[in-house]
Amino acid sequence: MGEKTAAITAVGAYVPDFVLTNKILEGMVETNDEWITTRTGIKERRILKDDTKGTSYLAIEAAKDLLKKSQVDPAEIDLLILATATPDLLVASTGAYVATEIGAVNAFSYDLQAACSSFLYGMSTAASYIESGRYKKVLLIGADKMSSIIDYTDRTTCIIFGDGAGAVLFEPNDEGLGLQDEYLRSDGTGRAFLNMEAGGSLLPATEETVKNKKHFVHQDGRTVFKFAVSNMADVAEKIIEKNKLGHDDVTWLVPHQANKRIIDATAARVGLQEEKVMVNIQKYGNTTSATLPLLLNDYEKQLKKGDNLIFAAFGGGFTWGSIYLKWAYNP
Ligand code: UT7
Repeated sequence: MGEKTAAITAVGAYVPDFVLTNKILEGMVETNDEWITTRTGIKERRILKDDTKGTSYLAIEAAKDLLKKSQVDPAEIDLLILATATPDLLVASTGAYVATEIGAVNAFSYDLQAACSSFLYGMSTAASYIESGRYKKVLLIGADKMSSIIDYTDRTTCIIFGDGAGAVLFEPNDEGLGLQDEYLRSDGTGRAFLNMEAGGSLLPATEETVKNKKHFVHQDGRTVFKFAVSNMADVAEKIIEKNKLGHDDVTWLVPHQANKRIIDATAARVGLQEEKVMVNIQKYGNTTSATLPLLLNDYEKQLKKGDNLIFAAFGGGFTWGSIYLKWAYNP
């Protein structure tokens, strides 16, 4: 790490208007509000209903929200990283389109894909650019239109995911605030348990792949759940111990929102009370790359300069990890 630390200095978010409630899902697949609530903690999710809009729309709106709140001139942004598992197009960088649309005319941009850990890994990447002294303003956006890859006749996945986007700005800090430490992991044997089989180079689209519903997300829920519970808790515990933080030193746990039971298990393992755990899964479900910045946006008014935040995420690949960050500004 160089002399300067990399701090989050602004936050923004966007979720589409349409609310897909458990009640509506009851009319679409064989499920019920009680099962969804007790097994996942989700009550509703937001869905981008407009077929002409992709993930870029969500990302652009989140970035515009950040720019408006912070009064940052988009022309000052050096780099835009779009963390997403659902880019608009496979070959053309969606981030490049987002940068152009928000007026980040002096930025270069690319997409970063690590499933539900995309934003967490993106924090590491964005912070490294700042710490090295190479760039001064890095905009990191986590956005996913999960509804574009969900089969709404499959009750094991359609109840979980939602659409949304969140954005944060990383800038140099000379008070030692911002990203302090990280512990990031991956294990490629996990790809069998959570994936979208077709549409990539391994299995390009054919009539068969479409007929067999291979362009939708599939997961072996129970297996993913087991890995997520133990790995998210492991990494959070590790980073807390490594940095010699006591329970009272941790102000907030900022966990990926995949399942309330996974969040509770992670909090219990690191000994944190409910009041210290950011949760909004009931409103948005699992928005993949957007869960962490959506939490920061929802809790922004409660965050104070110097607060110790422990981020933790787990996702397809498998990918997972934890980041320790000191919050850099007061509400
Ligand atoms: O963000 C990326 C990482 N993803 C995750 O972390 C997701 C991890 N997995 C999970 O969150 C959970 O495994 C699920 C929420 C997906 C499923 O919960 P579960 O407690 O693991 O349920 P299960 O798959 O073991 O299924 C239990 C029962 C089954 O019925 P039987 O076989 O016991 O008769 C399912 O068929 O619940 C049934 N079931 C449902 N029932 C009502 C599965 N989905 C539903 C549903 N409504 N939507």
